[in-house]
Amino acid sequence: MRLTVDPDPHVAVRVLRRAVDLGVEHVDTAAFYFSPGGILDVGDGPARYATELIRRALSPYGERLLIATKVGPGILADGRWGEARTAGELRKQVEENLRRLGVERLDLVNLRVFRSADSIAERFAALADMRAEGLIRHLGLSAVRVEQLDEALAIAPVACVQNSYALDLRHNDEMLRVCGERGIAFVPFFAIAGPGKESGASAEQNAVIEAVAARHGATAHQVRLAWTLHQGEHVLAIPGTGSERHLAENVAAGAIRLTESDLSELFAVRP
Ligand SMILES: NC(=O)c1ccc[n+]([C@@H]2O[C@H](COP(=O)([O-])OP(=O)(O)OC[C@H]3O[C@@H](n4cnc5c(N)ncnc54)[C@H](OP(=O)(O)O)[C@@H]3O)[C@@H](O)[C@H]2O)c1
Repeated sequence: MRLTVDPDPHVAVRVLRRAVDLGVEHVDTAAFYFSPGGILDVGDGPARYATELIRRALSPYGERLLIATKVGPGILADGRWGEARTAGELRKQVEENLRRLGVERLDLVNLRVFRSADSIAERFAALADMRAEGLIRHLGLSAVRVEQLDEALAIAPVACVQNSYALDLRHNDEMLRVCGERGIAFVPFFAIAGPGKESGASAEQNAVIEAVAARHGATAHQVRLAWTLHQGEHVLAIPGTGSERHLAENVAAGAIRLTESDLSELFAVRP
């Protein structure tokens, strides 16, 4: 989501290639991540979408790389921003992802849900049909409740749930546990930003997080990320960054081993 922020698209291309060099195997994107500044020129044709930058930087994709994308939100047929709800609208978004990423089958498609009170059965069944056709390998869900996960599981396997979660943003504790019990990957977004959400990481961090970070010779942002990874073997990390320095720090955070006492101190942190 952060790749299209810098007006110079070469920065995103460098970040993506460096990520793969550092061993990153999971890149999260969406058909609806695009440059607010308009067309980006990477030298071999214009790009506007994160998926196009990913193709430019990483295609042909290595065997070990998984690209997760999302459908749901987007510009609909009436030209307005909305939520794809029909099988036809979802298919169009899947096709856009296939075209812009330059692949014949998408590794993982998350259905991103906006009106969280709704049933998702019809939309998930439409994606399951596309999976059966061979257009998608794995299906996931994003921004969902446990009842919606249950609905989806009655239709097709769910590989992952991508919900917001951070040590000071804990409303998905139950989803984290349920995913662990059912062998489903839990993929938290806003692990670094926390309650700041879309506005990004705060330079000022809680004193407890800073103290744990100092003990590990790490930054508070690295500790935030490490904390999510300590919540279970089934938890993945998708820190968003447009910076090569932050990328390297985030990868290094995977090696931080928090102690029982670090974890109990961090458990008490609230927004
Ligand atoms: N499913 C959904 O609805 C949904 C919603 C939001 C996001 N997402 C996905 O989840 C990913 C993560 O979410 P996010 O990017 O909003 O939040 P995040 O990863 O929690 O935080 C990103 C923010 O932290 C900064 N940052 C990253 N690494 C840092 C570091 N090591 N030190 C200091 N600051 C650092 C980034 O700025 P710099 O660019 O300057 O590093 C950016 O401001 C997104 O990129 C997107 O792929 C999904």
